[in-house]
Amino acid sequence: MRLDIVSIFPDYFAPLELSLLGKARRAGIMDVHVHDLRQWTHDRHNTVDDTPYGGGPGMVMKPEPWGEALDTIAPAPAAPRLIVPTPSGRPFTQATAARLAAEPWLLFACGRYEGIDSRVMAEARTRMPVEEVSLGDFVLAGGEVAVLVMIEAISRLLPGVLGNTESVSDDSFAPGAMESLLEGPVYTKPPVWRDRAVPDILLSGNHGAIARWRRDEALRRTARHRPELLARLDPDALDKRDRAV
Ligand code: ADE
Repeated sequence: MRLDIVSIFPDYFAPLELSLLGKARRAGIMDVHVHDLRQWTHDRHNTVDDTPYGGGPGMVMKPEPWGEALDTIAPAPAAPRLIVPTPSGRPFTQATAARLAAEPWLLFACGRYEGIDSRVMAEARTRMPVEEVSLGDFVLAGGEVAVLVMIEAISRLLPGVLGNTESVSDDSFAPGAMESLLEGPVYTKPPVWRDRAVPDILLSGNHGAIARWRRDEALRRTARHRPELLARLDPDALDKRDRAV
């Protein structure tokens, strides 16, 4: 998968060298290119923003550098999927991550200030798919951290990035059994720590009973932390014992 990122703070992306992401890059699974938007400015101050038409606080990112950046990185007929993080976008979910993990080429445009002049996305839509996505109902100072979050969520779904393929299907929100469910508590050795014992059932070796217990815990945790998610569970996916939880 090829990833291009355009930002006025390319240094934000140093963590892409670390951990799983770094390994995926070194293994050639992810080919990442970070670009400084200011290279597509032509004035002495490398200006990327200006005051908003219609008035109001803050600044808006100017269209010209963004237009040149997109022309240079994605000259026709090549067409990446352009992802623009913004609090006014559609929600980014595990399903979004899975869908984007199947794309060959993603281009992330990191806005700052009040956002990017809307004509940039409108013009880009004439030659590539464009998605404005939000990480949640809060406002970050810019898209950089949102892009790091998205790349981490997407890259761990790429074949060869995680060692154990099972660990993805057990995740909270994973398609299948865990869709609309939060993962329950997990334990490791020692069996007793500060007088707290690991639940007996996990030491029983009874895989059927352990799977049942994990599902019950996931249902309980979801009811406690995210009750609105339970309404989304497919009634046909519930069994009699689910209803008792
Ligand atoms: N940029 C600023 N806030 C954001 C958010 N909540 N999600 C994605 N990008 C953002």
